[in-house]
Amino acid sequence: MPQQTEHDFLITGSHDEANRQAYASTLRMHVLTNIGDGLKDVYDHRVAPAFEKTNGRAPKDGREAMKAMLDDTYGKTWSSMIHTCQEMLWDSVRPAVERAQPDFNEKVRGLNSKLGSLTLDPDVEVPRYVSASDIHLMPGNYHTERTDNDTSQGALFDRGLYLYQGGFAGPLCDNNGRSQAEVIKRRWPDFRPKKILDLGCTVGNNTLPYADVFPDAELHAIDVAAPCVRYGHARAEALGVPCHFHQMNAEDTSFEDESFDLIVSCILFHETSRTGLQKILKESHRLLKPGGMMLHMEVPRTDGMDPYSAFRLDWDTYHNNEPFLSTWMRTDVGDACVDAGFDADNYIHIAAPDFGSVPDEEFTRYAAAEDSATGTHGHWGELVMWNMYGAWK
Ligand SMILES: C[S@@+](CC[C@H](N)C(=O)[O-])C[C@H]1O[C@@H](n2cnc3c(N)ncnc32)[C@H](O)[C@@H]1O
Repeated sequence: MPQQTEHDFLITGSHDEANRQAYASTLRMHVLTNIGDGLKDVYDHRVAPAFEKTNGRAPKDGREAMKAMLDDTYGKTWSSMIHTCQEMLWDSVRPAVERAQPDFNEKVRGLNSKLGSLTLDPDVEVPRYVSASDIHLMPGNYHTERTDNDTSQGALFDRGLYLYQGGFAGPLCDNNGRSQAEVIKRRWPDFRPKKILDLGCTVGNNTLPYADVFPDAELHAIDVAAPCVRYGHARAEALGVPCHFHQMNAEDTSFEDESFDLIVSCILFHETSRTGLQKILKESHRLLKPGGMMLHMEVPRTDGMDPYSAFRLDWDTYHNNEPFLSTWMRTDVGDACVDAGFDADNYIHIAAPDFGSVPDEEFTRYAAAEDSATGTHGHWGELVMWNMYGAWK
């Protein structure tokens, strides 16, 4: 596993703790991929034939495939193991983060902003779709504050995310944001956003690549979770990237109308309710300048997907505390954009590989292809990792 980029605020813990973290991460990846790869054989040769025998037809969607798979010993064991690995992963990071308080909180509080800024608003209410459960089983979720000026959930997320991804999103965990920013630049080379807003930034790992790709733009990032924006701001300053962090609800921000040229988000929508999503799209419409664009990176929708693949994607809804993932996967985003005020003709859906994982030319070809989301490569699998949905205003 490549090493995570160190910075002044990253908490990795002692030698033994770092070892335990590496073990939890590697074990999780092994269960997810190596043992997980066996699921397809089990489905094709045991579970689907048995389902057909009983029901006189194949499973019709991901939910039926999941129920049948989790009745099977292999499926049930895999599901239990991956859930346990996820808990082990957070448990491997927590002791170091808890020990670092309160000195760590004081260090963040004492930081002098040199490049960007931090604006907190204690009146921001965390929506229930965020506060009701520990998303991804992360203890305390994004928003919990145990003391004044608490930043620890941000530190837990930064280290935990890296271990969760097993390093595949790069040493700064920023491949998703970089992929999206590169798609925008390569598909629309004449589009030069001057003001960019990232919604639901958490600690800003996928926000900061926009500063590289659009160095002339003013970069803003918002999240409802105070510990995450505190940490994100400290992290950005430590990494030398100018970015303005705000504690705000993306459904109802305090920015002026038509403030931004480009509004983006990265894997935010599957963690919002359907009502919340609609409000965020409407707010994005209000905040965009005429001629501006919003583009939101997400996991793909499961409609039209084979039941086995839909089961794999949908598993997190039921077993990794992502209660709205399933709702997102069944949402017609085009209709939702129109309901929010965007013109149907201006709707965008792009599917792209991970930047850096494929040759540059191949990446550009996907980024520029009119039919990347519907063409021969489909919208999931093969090289495609990311789906981006949005609209021009
Ligand atoms: C999956 S995380 C996003 C991760 C981050 N964008 C990244 O790329 O790593 C979802 C984030 O969105 C935030 N969030 C959820 N609903 C929000 C809302 N209505 N307004 C602002 N932030 C929100 C959560 O607090 C959480 O930090």
